Amino acid sequence: MQIPFMRLDRQFANHRQEFMDAVETVFTHGKVLQAQEVADLEALVGDFFAMPHAVAVGSGTDALILAMKALGLKPGGRVAVTSLSFVASASAIVHAGGVPVFVDIEDDYFMAREDVLLDLVQSGKVDGVVAVHLYGQMTELSEIHAEAKKRGVFVIEDAAQALGATRHGIAPGAHSDCTCVSFDPTKVIGAQGSGGLALAREHHIAEHLRRLRYHGHAGQRVYTEIGHNSQLPTVQAAIINAKLKHEEEWRLRRLAIAGAFTETLQRMPHIRPPKVRQGNTHIYHKYAMTVKQGRDALALHLKNRGIGSSVHYSMPLHEQPCFAGNHELAGDMSVVKKATQHLLSLPIYPELTDSEVNYICESLKAFQG
Ligand SMILES: Cc1ncc(COP(=O)(O)O)c(C=O)c1O
Repeated sequence: MQIPFMRLDRQFANHRQEFMDAVETVFTHGKVLQAQEVADLEALVGDFFAMPHAVAVGSGTDALILAMKALGLKPGGRVAVTSLSFVASASAIVHAGGVPVFVDIEDDYFMAREDVLLDLVQSGKVDGVVAVHLYGQMTELSEIHAEAKKRGVFVIEDAAQALGATRHGIAPGAHSDCTCVSFDPTKVIGAQGSGGLALAREHHIAEHLRRLRYHGHAGQRVYTEIGHNSQLPTVQAAIINAKLKHEEEWRLRRLAIAGAFTETLQRMPHIRPPKVRQGNTHIYHKYAMTVKQGRDALALHLKNRGIGSSVHYSMPLHEQPCFAGNHELAGDMSVVKKATQHLLSLPIYPELTDSEVNYICESLKAFQG
């Protein structure tokens, strides 16, 4: 049996007509940029997150960069961010002119240590926080929000991996200045290419995001600042709109698959399934387990059985060469270093069949460690 880590071909096969209809509508009306489908997507996603303003952009990375610019990050401004995430969570800070201050993680949910974030905000050591919701569940931000508000520190939620996740029943973004979503094809709702969106609570921030996404254009061909060209193509918006109709069905299927994996792993003492924090709903964007011994051997064992797996992430961000000479560290970073040596992600997508899920579970059980 061959089970690749991702299978967008199967998603397309299952929904061919819906996706092709979306494409045909856009190609027929011909407004390939900034058309109604983009406005529809902004309304849909704004409602989904219960946020008043949504601005579609070219990628989740651009959403982060534009959000930091719209929130007034100054050149050299310091922004706290976890050291365990996709590179864009931190490279966006550099793109926006800032300096990432990397924070070590806690080893239950693998997200930035809240006490360290709080201390950075309280002691005035950072101008902003990029809070990353990792693998499909949310981090806790209530104390950080309260402290950041007092001190004029911005909080951006990187919800690239958390569309559909909630904490105490509330979606990402409720108390932050901006929240960034990715429609990268690997995400639970992905474009057929890149795509992203920034959510804002305040109208003037949303207006600033809109100007920044298109060359600083303030209307009437007047460009009030140097902006970007980061428009989400209409055809991508139309496809994402079609996929959003399946969000709940796909989320429930992911949950069922994750349940089967977790049940299997609970009987395997040398592998720890992902923990769900109390109060969270996890959407399992990634199913990242902790292999106490023999992570690479398990990856090879799965590969030999035709099962793709992946490591999220194989190197702490503060060690990535792209940040050399341009970052600060908050703490000794020992937990993140260890985590990168033990984490392994299993394939998880709604199109996995029951027999494929069983096969993955049986293959896990057959691993001797
Ligand atoms: C946590 C996180 N932040 C940011 C991004 C960047 O999003 P994009 O690939 O849409 O630029 C991604 C994923 O790709 C991500 O997983």
